[in-house]
Amino acid sequence: MTNGLENVVAAETRLSDVDGAAGRLVIRGVSLDTLVRDGTFESVAVLLLDGLFDADGPRDVAALQSALGAARAAAFGQVAAIDATILALPPVDAMRALVARLPDGEDAATALRLLAAPAVFLPAVLRLQQGLPAVAPDAALSQSADILRMLTGNHPTPEQTSALDAYLVTISDHGLNASTFASRVIASTRAGLTSSALAALGALKGPLHGGAPGPVLDMLDAVATPANAAAWLNAALDRGDRLMGFGHRVYRVRDPRADALKQALRPLIASGQVDSGRIELAEAIEAAALDILKTRKPDRPLDVNVEFYTALLLESLGFPRDAFTGVFAIGRMTGWIAHAREQALEGRLIRPSSVYIGPLPRAA
Ligand code: CMC
Repeated sequence: MTNGLENVVAAETRLSDVDGAAGRLVIRGVSLDTLVRDGTFESVAVLLLDGLFDADGPRDVAALQSALGAARAAAFGQVAAIDATILALPPVDAMRALVARLPDGEDAATALRLLAAPAVFLPAVLRLQQGLPAVAPDAALSQSADILRMLTGNHPTPEQTSALDAYLVTISDHGLNASTFASRVIASTRAGLTSSALAALGALKGPLHGGAPGPVLDMLDAVATPANAAAWLNAALDRGDRLMGFGHRVYRVRDPRADALKQALRPLIASGQVDSGRIELAEAIEAAALDILKTRKPDRPLDVNVEFYTALLLESLGFPRDAFTGVFAIGRMTGWIAHAREQALEGRLIRPSSVYIGPLPRAA
């Protein structure tokens, strides 16, 4: 038996491959670097979902962009029904509660709704929680530009839209991570894509998976100055804490998504749209952490993971830290749907076994 199912193969997939030894991510035959350089939320969705639905869905980037615009406009109809109970929840839970109200199904229309609606729900919840009116979507915009516009009320700069696209592309799919596996388990029962997405959202929010980037910023705030990095990190490890944004179940080298996001930050830095002091602090923490982890955890190669630079990128785009996991969910939704469809089309009911280690009935 393998604790945590480490190295257990639970599916065959044509969607993505994570090579943990080489630090390489391939999505449908395309390397992460190429995808991030040329891709947008829409282009990666077309790539990942290609062939997984009958010909009743949008099949090219322009068609998907306009279908998503219309689906965002339809989803905004639900914003009026966001009540105080939902607004009292953390943003990712509010988003999950709203997604739970969407109809279920296994068709392309359900997939489109799931791709579009969270992109409307998250900015609306964030604004309503601050006492601001929700901003209606603009169906003519790309998904990334519209998310930023619905968040701030202003048209984003081209650098900001590209940075969000780079992020959403980078985290679109990643093998059989915990939330994607959850999505496939539900899909294997034929429950429908909305049910799969709900299970995946629940799995994503944990701090060992998609809940780490908010705590990365807490760490940056606590460290406060580059000179303080080593002392703070050592004290955290002395307490038995894990360093958020470091380590990975599969990667034994640097997570390639961390560099893709560091790269995506460059145009924002060059155009003065990021606080350069924040970047210097992050780089000092990264360097000190790698040094310290090498000495203190010599048996386990630990390097920076995707969440470290996610935190800086999403903060620079104006997302509050409690919304980071919700933005992750908007991007990973494409992978969840693609895996759920692949499982429903090609897989069997997922039903593993367990070894009973409890007491046996007493003899009468
Ligand atoms: N800081 C300090 N020590 C660590 C860390 C860390 N971030 N990650 C692993 N270790 C240590 C751990 O304490 C253990 O040491 P020891 O054997 O001395 O107790 C050893 O490394 C092995 O840990 P493990 O629990 O077997 O590793 P895992 O494969 O279950 O954990 C992980 C993977 C991502 C949960 C873990 O690295 C972690 O908790 N990282 C911090 C949270 C984080 O950044 N999560 C985002 C992951 S990337 C997003 C995604 O793809 O989901």
